[in-house]
Amino acid sequence: MAKANDPFESQDEDNDESEDEDVVEQDAVSLLSSDHLEVKQMFEEYRQLVEGNAGEDRRAELAAQICSALTVHAEIEEDIFYPAMRESIDDELLLDQAEVEHGSAKELIEQIESMDPGDALYDAKVLVLGEYVEHHVQEEENEIFPQAEKSGIDLDELGVELAERKRELMAELEED
Ligand SMILES: [Fe+2]
Ligand SMILES: [Fe+2]
Repeated sequence: MAKANDPFESQDEDNDESEDEDVVEQDAVSLLSSDHLEVKQMFEEYRQLVEGNAGEDRRAELAAQICSALTVHAEIEEDIFYPAMRESIDDELLLDQAEVEHGSAKELIEQIESMDPGDALYDAKVLVLGEYVEHHVQEEENEIFPQAEKSGIDLDELGVELAERKRELMAELEED
């Protein structure tokens, strides 16, 4: 109450920089949702590159970024988020469908990664990947996340795990 007049102070509860190992940056749902938004923006940017007849280098670079971001995102969901959901929500079929959708996306990602941007169907494959991902993201955000929020699972703790694994995987990708 003493801080009620200061909108900045009132949000500043446990802001101890020295313990940032355990600081919850984002809960699981907001971390995964920000990934979704980021990738959606990259797909929109890709469409603009195609419409603007951008050169092969720019398209290849963005496609590679999209594929890496999706690979990391799918992996943290499959390794951490989906197993946690399987234990906490009673909807195996929904999670099975999500994994099948990941499988289709991964096949397309592998194809794109083995192609050159000048190849026939390259842009189409990237854009269709965007459509798959859009559909999948809708299911996660409209069906899985609301159940996660109701399940009572510790989404903060799960967010820390997801963030850690994401950092590791991104570092591995940068080494390649
Ligand atoms: Fe997913
Ligand atoms: Fe997702």
